[in-house]
Amino acid sequence: MTKPTKPPGGSPPSGFRPSVPAPTPGPAPKAVATAALRAEHAELLRMLNGLAERLEKLHEQTTLDQFSMAREVLDFVKRRVAPHARAEEYTLYPAADWAAGEGSKVSETARFEHQLVMRRCEALEKEIAAGSPPGRLMHLSYGILGLIAAHFAVTDEVILPYLDKAFDAARFEKEVLTPLRVERSAKR
Ligand SMILES: [Fe+2]
Repeated sequence: MTKPTKPPGGSPPSGFRPSVPAPTPGPAPKAVATAALRAEHAELLRMLNGLAERLEKLHEQTTLDQFSMAREVLDFVKRRVAPHARAEEYTLYPAADWAAGEGSKVSETARFEHQLVMRRCEALEKEIAAGSPPGRLMHLSYGILGLIAAHFAVTDEVILPYLDKAFDAARFEKEVLTPLRVERSAKR
């Protein structure tokens, strides 16, 4: 029997055989241009999920509280989502269409989703006015919140990458985010 030979250099044998050289440590990756916007979406999503969790108990509430909880959904859209959407249509979407290439309409579906959210809010408003039962209020409320959550995912994962490729953070801040914030805080 032969004695096992020591690997050269004394290092233990390993099943990992790199095919490329190890990366050299460098600076941390730069923040993407749309980071602030993504953080705002995450914050709105956090609020949305909090609201959705409370809606799970809507049917246990008194009739009056059921309607006020459904109205909270409409209020969340009106106060938080609608100004955000209006500001996006003002600067973000035109910038995204430009960033995706001449004549691109990459933002068209996202714009339409804004309209769908408003249509669904109108439907919920009618059901509240008609005194609809809790199951119906929950159904419509979740429809609105689910659509908003999906819309944020589309924005972050489909639209914003075009902007991250086309803009550096400073230019994006100046040309897109600053006018977006002004529009969002304008009373309309
Ligand atoms: Fe949007």
